[in-house]
Amino acid sequence: MNIAQVDYDGLIPNNVALGQDVRVKRALEKWHPGYINWWHDMGPEGFQESLVYLRTAVSVDPKGWAKFDYVRMPEYRWGVLLAPQVEGRKVAFGAHKGEDAWQEVPGEYRAMLRRLVVIQGDTEPASVEQQRHLGKTAPSLYDMRNLFQVNVEEGRHLWAMVYLLQKYFGTDGREEAEALLQRRSGDPDTPRMLGAFNEKTPDWLSFFMFTYFTDRDGKMQLEALAQSGFDPLSRTCRFMLTEEAHHMFVGETGVTRIIQRTCEAMKQAGIDDPYDIEKVRKLGVIDLPTIQKKANLHFSLTLDLFGSEISTNAANAFHAGLKGRYREDRLKDDHQLETGAYPVLRLINGQIKNEDAPALSALNMRLRDDYVVDCNVGVGRWNKVIEQIGIPFQIKLPHVAFHRHIGEFSDIHADVSGNVLSEAEWNKRRGDFLPSGDDRAFIEGLMQPNFEIGKFAGWIAPPRVGIDNKPGDFEYVKIA
Ligand SMILES: [Fe+2]
Ligand SMILES: [Fe+2]
Repeated sequence: MNIAQVDYDGLIPNNVALGQDVRVKRALEKWHPGYINWWHDMGPEGFQESLVYLRTAVSVDPKGWAKFDYVRMPEYRWGVLLAPQVEGRKVAFGAHKGEDAWQEVPGEYRAMLRRLVVIQGDTEPASVEQQRHLGKTAPSLYDMRNLFQVNVEEGRHLWAMVYLLQKYFGTDGREEAEALLQRRSGDPDTPRMLGAFNEKTPDWLSFFMFTYFTDRDGKMQLEALAQSGFDPLSRTCRFMLTEEAHHMFVGETGVTRIIQRTCEAMKQAGIDDPYDIEKVRKLGVIDLPTIQKKANLHFSLTLDLFGSEISTNAANAFHAGLKGRYREDRLKDDHQLETGAYPVLRLINGQIKNEDAPALSALNMRLRDDYVVDCNVGVGRWNKVIEQIGIPFQIKLPHVAFHRHIGEFSDIHADVSGNVLSEAEWNKRRGDFLPSGDDRAFIEGLMQPNFEIGKFAGWIAPPRVGIDNKPGDFEYVKIA
């Protein structure tokens, strides 16, 4: 079978020859009804009968892997798709560098590998749960379609991880696959595994910030796992990354369009001061300082996903050849890091300072640094829009010590510039940095649906181009 072709005949589209793998095929078919139940219980609220113009992966050929068509979400073809196997691939880093990549789970690393797969897997359904209420306040059919596209693809990412669990981890893999359907975002008793995935996504600005910042953490983790010496994990992640790009596109362009609309409305009304919040809000658009606060919130929550700056787990996973660095294959060093240092931002005697740490222990810090660089690219583009319209304002990422719950800075309070604050100062100024109750109420008030074909809510500009090059009056969702 040509690996780029996907077998669409069975219940589960796949390019892993499931038809010849009776044990795994049965296990997945047994898991399938639970997944569909989960989708109905925890997937998008409403719109399950609506026809949504979705892309479905039909190939893993980079030149043409997707097709667009109207689909009812529960009928979406969630499949198991791995990037083609690279002939003669080697473990590219760590203690096993240069050995053949593993096609089966290396026994000594089984527990560590399973944990990596489960943690990644847990984030996928979590974000669908977080976003499940957003359909009914969509600012347009275009945006609604993008939301649902992200949702079905996160569902597919869950399938991707569940395939690995079922295929390579036997009984405990099956148990973990079940548990992925049991945990619930924000549930006090059975929460999702990572903090940011238990937060609410209450409005569309949050959704765009989430897909910009938190899906980008997903990208970084997938990039690091795509380097894995465990070849099936690497291949799965490489294909997931093609889908992930769209999620970040939705986030970046969503925020851009909100910023654009705000600045244009301000210009039109002759308001030059971005801090004249009351006047700006009267125009029915979201003021720039509130957009900044939302960015502060989502950026800081997402930084926590990188874990502690100094981490033995990260060192072990790298040493074992299971999780590499961001674009390991393009880095020029010994790829073993047994010697060498990396600067880590630490809290030393109450002050935030760089200190060299062993490179192997500092891998979380390093991935986080790469992430911050990547985040800043889109922020620069947001600022271009503000500048071009001529409003004196710049969105800035807050300092990495700001509003943290994990790692070096979890015990202190810092402002957005990284100045350490006392508890009292923090409590007094918190509302300057993070969305206040008033900010949230204002945004919530704006979230009135607009389901008219080709129309957009007043607080967001239309996109420059349609999905799949469709014209502005295209009916992205046929609401049933
Ligand atoms: Fe994902
Ligand atoms: Fe994503």
